[in-house]
Amino acid sequence: MDTTDRPIIIAHRGFRRLYPENTIIAFEAAINAGAHMIELDVTLSKDRKLIIIHDDTLDRTTSGSGLVRDKDLADIQKLDAGSWFDPRFQGERVPTLEEVLDCCGNRIMVNIEIKASAYEPEGRPDSIERQVVNLIRSCRCSRFILISSFHPEVLVRIARLDSSLPIGLITEEQDAESVFPFSKKLDLYSWNPDAGSVTEDLVREAHNRKIRVFPYTVNSVSQAKALFELQIDGLFTDDPALMIKGLSNV
Ligand code: G3P
Ligand code: CA
Repeated sequence: MDTTDRPIIIAHRGFRRLYPENTIIAFEAAINAGAHMIELDVTLSKDRKLIIIHDDTLDRTTSGSGLVRDKDLADIQKLDAGSWFDPRFQGERVPTLEEVLDCCGNRIMVNIEIKASAYEPEGRPDSIERQVVNLIRSCRCSRFILISSFHPEVLVRIARLDSSLPIGLITEEQDAESVFPFSKKLDLYSWNPDAGSVTEDLVREAHNRKIRVFPYTVNSVSQAKALFELQIDGLFTDDPALMIKGLSNV
């Protein structure tokens, strides 16, 4: 994956400011806006298929309700994942990871966030980590992929399955410094911290360890410029068009 020599603009759940998050239309819009990478959230349905949705429940972003893990893929794919955002997007569906990689996987870098809530005790042959790695292999798009998670053990498992895949640890605001002890265990491609926790010292320490820094979620150009002053390498934003325009001279 080549993310050198430019501020990397990562479209958080697609072009989320103007399109329903984590849908194909939001990912297509991010590509059209010139984002360098799209980010998505992957979890498991009841029948253990890889689906793209942020919340543990269906209520906020679909016409359904209840826990995602209590519903089979076929039932989830009957739901409307666009109207909640705007009636113009009626008919958008909750995509599978395979559908997103088929449509976007060789056109833009893809940050696959494996939801911490999908973490399970080890040992299942159809674990989320194993399914994600197998799918990346079968679509031959590994050079476009960054895998991330808030759950460090998910990343340990990914590295064990395929040590060539770039991985990124996501941290909450209060946990920023946990990245450094963890990076002694595992080679990290990136650290994806809450933007509020980023300091010049932490960025320097990450860079000393060859870890890129991609804070989330930055939706104002002035905040983005302040973060680039701290030497971050890229950022997650809901509005890639705004960021690309606003940072064109950074
Ligand atoms: O990976 C950055 C960001 O996506 C993490 O937060 O809650 O939007 O998944 P969240
Ligand atoms: Ca995410």
